[in-house]
Amino acid sequence: MIPVNEPLFGKRELEYVTECVRTGWVSSAGQFVSQFEERWASYCGRRYGVAVSNGTVALQLAVACLDLEPGDEVIIPTFTIISCALAVVYNGGLPVLVDSDPKTWTMDVNQVADKITPRTKAFMPVHIYGHPVDRDPLLDLAGKHGLAIIEDAAEAHGAEYLSGRHGPNPMWRRCGSFGTLSCFSFYANKLITTGEGGMILTDDPALAERTRSLRNLCFLPKRRFYHEELGYNFRLTNLQAALGLAQLERMDEIVAKKRWIGREYTHCLQGLPGLQLPTEEPWARSVYWMYGVVLSEETGMDAAEFARRLAEQGVDTRPFFLGMHEQPVFHRRGLFQNERYPVAERIARQGLYLPSGLALTEAQLETVCEAVREVLHA
Ligand SMILES: Cc1ncc(COP(=O)(O)O)c(C=O)c1O
Repeated sequence: MIPVNEPLFGKRELEYVTECVRTGWVSSAGQFVSQFEERWASYCGRRYGVAVSNGTVALQLAVACLDLEPGDEVIIPTFTIISCALAVVYNGGLPVLVDSDPKTWTMDVNQVADKITPRTKAFMPVHIYGHPVDRDPLLDLAGKHGLAIIEDAAEAHGAEYLSGRHGPNPMWRRCGSFGTLSCFSFYANKLITTGEGGMILTDDPALAERTRSLRNLCFLPKRRFYHEELGYNFRLTNLQAALGLAQLERMDEIVAKKRWIGREYTHCLQGLPGLQLPTEEPWARSVYWMYGVVLSEETGMDAAEFARRLAEQGVDTRPFFLGMHEQPVFHRRGLFQNERYPVAERIARQGLYLPSGLALTEAQLETVCEAVREVLHA
């Protein structure tokens, strides 16, 4: 079976992790954590990085900084991982959903304005499968209404967005560079991984301080074991940061490999009837975190059937997200009942992603493409 993902480690990873073991610095105190925070923040063009245990809690702490009152709203895409909605719900807020853009599968920014109410406090754009959200219209809206942006860049390490494309000075900016708070995951299938891990980036020193405190039980710096706020233990360990730092040192190579995988798949699969491939908008440089495809209904097959037939050919796949408005856990809480988001519903049923890991070889990629052609009788 050609796996959907395999992490790829080198000598440097072993060297840094070994150093933690050799020196005994294995918990969250240790120089790799602060180095990883500084270098990741700087790579993304931000001032502060706060490393945490995973991407889900990164979002949870970022939303905690909004100090939501019950009934306050955060606008999120329905087509995303549940972590986005949980972050809002855990903080006492109400997620408000928007549908996806049919080409990029990211939040349709044209539908956001209609969802703003007097209770709206923030937007949570999510860069889906490595392709950036169209950020400029969102920034304009957020500025106009005085709203925060919690950017979820978990799937878009190193992806870039051309900001100010209609103005005199367009500029490429990395994903993770524009949220009031921006969040990352370093789970094993991400471009760089710490096993489990995450990070919050911001340019605001007060928000950096607040998230640092929240992740570490809200110990007061001057008086340990004295607490004025409810905190969490969401720390990242030095061992994990060592792994992340080693990979960050070869980030350009990692991004180049992912972009190669994306280009090669598109080259091989382009023009196959009934198959929608990922787009790369002129204002975007995708990192093709996962190479997603959407089958047209006219093929007479849904993604589950497509996946089953690909598996018979030795190709592993994963289904697309199922929208938040189709989740029983939220229906039981009285949320999103009778809401419909046609794009998200279609891609959830017709979409899957192909093997896209850093260890994927050219021969494996060709085998995957042949299997796709075979299943589609193309
Ligand atoms: C878009 C997005 N946000 C958040 C997360 C949550 O990250 P984690 O799995 O590290 O909790 C993921 C997870 O993979 C994700 O894809």
